[in-house]
Amino acid sequence: MKIVFLSSEVAPFAKTGGLADVTGSLPRFLAKLGLEVRIFMPLYREVQKKGFPLLKVADRLPFHWAGQEDVFTVWESAESGVPVYFIDKPAFYDRDGLYGTAAGDYKDNGQRFAFFSQASLAALKAMDFAPDVIHVHDWQSAIALAYLKSIYGQDPFFQTTKSLCTIHNLAYQGLFERDILKTIGLPESLFDMDGLEFFGKVNFLKAGILYATAISTVSYRYSCEIQTPEFGCGLDGLLRKRSDVLTGILNGVDYAAWDPAKDSLIAAPFTASDPKGKEVCKKDLQTAFGLPTAKKDLPVIGMVSRLAGQKGLDMLIEALGGLFPLGVQLVILGTGEAEIQESLETARRRFPSFFGLKIAFDDRLAHKIYAGSDMFLMPSRYEPCGLTQMYSLKYGAIPIVRATGGLDDSIREYDAADGRGNGFKFEACSPPALIQAVQRALKLYAHKRAWAGLVQNAMACDFSWERAAQEYVLLYQNIREERTFPVSVRSRF
Ligand code: ADP
Ligand code: GLC
Repeated sequence: MKIVFLSSEVAPFAKTGGLADVTGSLPRFLAKLGLEVRIFMPLYREVQKKGFPLLKVADRLPFHWAGQEDVFTVWESAESGVPVYFIDKPAFYDRDGLYGTAAGDYKDNGQRFAFFSQASLAALKAMDFAPDVIHVHDWQSAIALAYLKSIYGQDPFFQTTKSLCTIHNLAYQGLFERDILKTIGLPESLFDMDGLEFFGKVNFLKAGILYATAISTVSYRYSCEIQTPEFGCGLDGLLRKRSDVLTGILNGVDYAAWDPAKDSLIAAPFTASDPKGKEVCKKDLQTAFGLPTAKKDLPVIGMVSRLAGQKGLDMLIEALGGLFPLGVQLVILGTGEAEIQESLETARRRFPSFFGLKIAFDDRLAHKIYAGSDMFLMPSRYEPCGLTQMYSLKYGAIPIVRATGGLDDSIREYDAADGRGNGFKFEACSPPALIQAVQRALKLYAHKRAWAGLVQNAMACDFSWERAAQEYVLLYQNIREERTFPVSVRSRF
């Protein structure tokens, strides 16, 4: 089976969040199962700066873009084990950042990602690679399906091509003014309630939801949540209409990159059977954040997060006054919204010996946090999947999460009666609920043997991609045959 991924970010080339982890690892596991996978992404300045060796595979391909003749170049990297193709168009992608700068999103993001989407389809034709399934991810490439439907609708090359749209985050939809259609070469007739129109705007993600052969989300629970008004972001009605082809597959982890036994980015390796290195990592983490290391038994709670409303940081900030008197240290690594950043900085000044904060995107420090923390906090308001709780499990940092989306599907509350479970969960979106979950964790932390048992449970959890990749293969097969499918993958527990 031939599969093509279109994604606006792919690790290790360019990453702002979990999408890059998924598109950077899942294709390799699909290839191991015998699928022929190719990935397309834009050639950002960041990719060039990182100095990956790239091979030019098409120079100045002529391209009919929005009523004009244009050109773009295609580069290839073999770095990640499956071919990654980069759409090179300096006017769009040779800039700082993927989507914008600290000053905000780039104003022409609609054009940038529409160009990427259509150019990827044109490149597939030029390289004579007709996929069985085009797999698009989020709004930035969902719009490709509008091109497949309209401009390439009668093209014999794509006649047998089917599609899968994976929603990693429904809250980001790619909304633009009506007149964008002219500038991206899509017919005005698509501006219709049954097309891309959405409350007077053009909605790129809606193209994926409407036109994809099948739709998936990155956890089973999120696939149910987005069909409700509370989580549906205005698209729940449409998602309900398409529920016969909507499914959820929980993301996996690439344990080649996320394993404390062989992680070169952390201070000392450790395993479940030989956990001594974790103490070294904890000290190293406290030092990195300028926190006192003397009180060895003070647990460190870690967080690695985009600073966005989704992640519940406002709830955490409100809870801090109640949290620190319980006897914990907190370290946060994140970048994102200025307002959240400022509130966190204010809080850090208030609690300097308990609270370490780094406003940066720093992969090495992220690894140090998973390795050195005793607990890992995710008070998300919603969470399509969440990868960080899965990474922290592997590093023996016990997740404390809100019961939503993939967090609910991957974390089970520890039960002292039978010693089962891998973390702590709370339901209500409120500071007291968060504090109570931390209190439950602290109570157990005081019992060293029971805590060690919980850490063993956590480190033994297996969320490897092997399993999820098999679920995707099944899904692709169903898509190719255009079968409806109940491939609903429930909680792992
Ligand atoms: P989301 O995709 O919503 O941001 P996920 O939990 O799926 O959340 O994935 C986040 C990914 O981004 C993880 O690999 C995490 O380690 C990484 N990450 C997030 N913020 C930072 C940061 N400031 N520095 C380094 N890595 C980060
Ligand atoms: C999104 C979601 C996150 C998910 C990631 C990868 O960024 O916010 O929950 O893990 O995509 O699918």
